[in-house]
Amino acid sequence: MNSSEPTHEELAFDVLSRPCKLSDMSEFHSYEPRIGHRLAHDPLKAIVAPRPIGWISTVDGSGNVNLAPYSFFNMISSTPPLVMFSSEGRKDSVANIEETGEFCCNLVTHELASQMNRTGQELARHIDEMEVAGIEPVHSDLIKPLRVLKAPASLECRAIEINQLVGLGEELLEVYVVIGQIVKVHIRTEFLNEGIFDLAAVNTIARAGYRGDYVVAREIFEMLPE
Ligand SMILES: Cc1cc2nc3c(=O)[nH]c(=O)nc-3n(C[C@H](O)[C@H](O)[C@H](O)COP(=O)(O)O)c2cc1C
Repeated sequence: MNSSEPTHEELAFDVLSRPCKLSDMSEFHSYEPRIGHRLAHDPLKAIVAPRPIGWISTVDGSGNVNLAPYSFFNMISSTPPLVMFSSEGRKDSVANIEETGEFCCNLVTHELASQMNRTGQELARHIDEMEVAGIEPVHSDLIKPLRVLKAPASLECRAIEINQLVGLGEELLEVYVVIGQIVKVHIRTEFLNEGIFDLAAVNTIARAGYRGDYVVAREIFEMLPE
C-alpha cells in the first residue's frame, strides 16, 4: 500500500465522524437475527423479495427423476452465464447433482404454480415428482435431467461448484450452494415477440415473503442507464 493512502482505521474514523443522523429507535424496528426478530413471523424473506424460482430438475446416478422449486435462486453472471441455488439441508436435488453434475432450471408461471407447489413436497428420493404433479417432461439436449415441456424457458446447466457453507463462527452450516454454468437455453417460441422474451406475457411467478405468498411479474418499466 502507498504510505500516503489513508489506512483502514483512518477511513473508518472518517465515516464515524461524518455528520449524520443517529438511528432513531422509534423510526426503525431493528434486530440482530442471531438474537431474534421479536415479530410474529420472520420478515427477512419478505424483505429480500420477490425471489425468482428455479424449478430444478435432476436425475440421480440411476436415472431416477427429481423436480423441486428453489427460491434461493438467481443468475449470478452473464459471461459465462451462471446460475445458483441454495438448499437448506442436503436435499435430493443437491445429492443428485453431486452424483451427475447436471441440472436444469425451469421457469415457473402462474399457470404452472399449483404443479410447482406439488413438487415442493418432501418426498422419498426415488419418487418422480414430475409424475406426482402430472408434469409433461421433454428430453434435454446436452444433459440427462428432463425439462418441463410447458415451462416458457429452461436452462440446461452443468455444475461448476457445490459448496457447503461455513458460518461466522467457523461452524459448518446446513446450507449447500450449487453454481451451474448454462450450456443450453430453450425458449418457447410463443413467448418470443420480435426476438424479445416477452416477460409481460409469460406470467412468471416469484416468492414474495411470508408462507404461501407469491407475485406475478406483469408490470415492466424502462429506465436506461444515465
Ligand atoms: C416456491 C418454493 C420455493 C422453495 N425454495 C427453496 C429453497 O430455496 N431452498 C430450499 O432448501 N428449499 C426450498 N423449498 C422447499 C423445497 O422445494 C422442498 O424441500 C423440496 O421437497 C426439495 O426437493 P428435493 O429434496 O427433491 O430437492 C421451496 C419450496 C417452494 C414451494
